[in-house]
Amino acid sequence: MKPKSLVNIGDYGRDDIFRILESAARFKQESDRDLLRGKVCATLFFEPSTRTRLSFETAVSRLSGRIIGFSDSATSSAAKGESLKDTIVMVSNYADLIVMRHHLEGSARYASEISTVPVINAGDGSNQHPTQTMLDLFTIYETQGSLENLTITVVGDLKYGRTVHSLIQGMSYFNPTFNFVAPEELHIPDKYKLFCDKRNIPYREFTDFAPEAINSADILYMTRVQKERFTDLMEYEKVKNVYILRDRMLANSKENLKVLHPLPRVNEVNQDVDANPKAYYFEQAKNGMYTRQAIICDLMGVES
Ligand code: CP
Repeated sequence: MKPKSLVNIGDYGRDDIFRILESAARFKQESDRDLLRGKVCATLFFEPSTRTRLSFETAVSRLSGRIIGFSDSATSSAAKGESLKDTIVMVSNYADLIVMRHHLEGSARYASEISTVPVINAGDGSNQHPTQTMLDLFTIYETQGSLENLTITVVGDLKYGRTVHSLIQGMSYFNPTFNFVAPEELHIPDKYKLFCDKRNIPYREFTDFAPEAINSADILYMTRVQKERFTDLMEYEKVKNVYILRDRMLANSKENLKVLHPLPRVNEVNQDVDANPKAYYFEQAKNGMYTRQAIICDLMGVES
């Protein structure tokens, strides 16, 4: 039987999501637990990362598991031309779980079909970043007391932003309303609008960073314009600083508003926002460790 993997946030239904969030809340109370002793987790990062890789590695270390892997594919035999297939076959002989980030959309699904151990998608190109979404859902629940009936304004690179694509799917169980704020060049792909239409999820599109999009929101989800996704750097230069959130722009926002960002940020959230109690992106990143502990245990069949 194929092991259970997390490739797409749609792999987890509503009940699965609540099971993970409850487990993550327990890990937030007590993160050092002896649950993965004797287990080996491999982190294969073919693309750069700070938070995702380090939070996965910390999550495993705090549960007494061990880590193997690489943070730069240039130091692996991929640099000699070894295929992804052979890499996954090899590593699934060594480890009990594989966490992989790769620039190709669909690479995580492909890896999960070859692997004999669970695979966690830590980001596949512009497609999906399901563990980011799980930590986003945890953070939204933590700050709003519910996931239901929230207005979420997502800002920035909605075309290539895998965190946004996963978030739309993950929130779809909870009757959300979306405001999509993006320049023409980076607007939300039609397939995600179709996804919303099919589920009667209301959304509005903005090309300017309108006060209405900020002031109607429960969650303001900022994203970076990702230089690495552009083939034409002139196009990147045109849009790189298109929206910059400044503290004064939050003056008329809702009391319960929280500003989230998957990070890293470049210029899109000015540093004067950091001291505003509505800024929650660093706590959001911290929640990544607890949420990933919950996901790892879930996939490995470890009671948590
Ligand atoms: N949010 C996120 O994926 O961050 P990293 O690229 O640093 O892992």
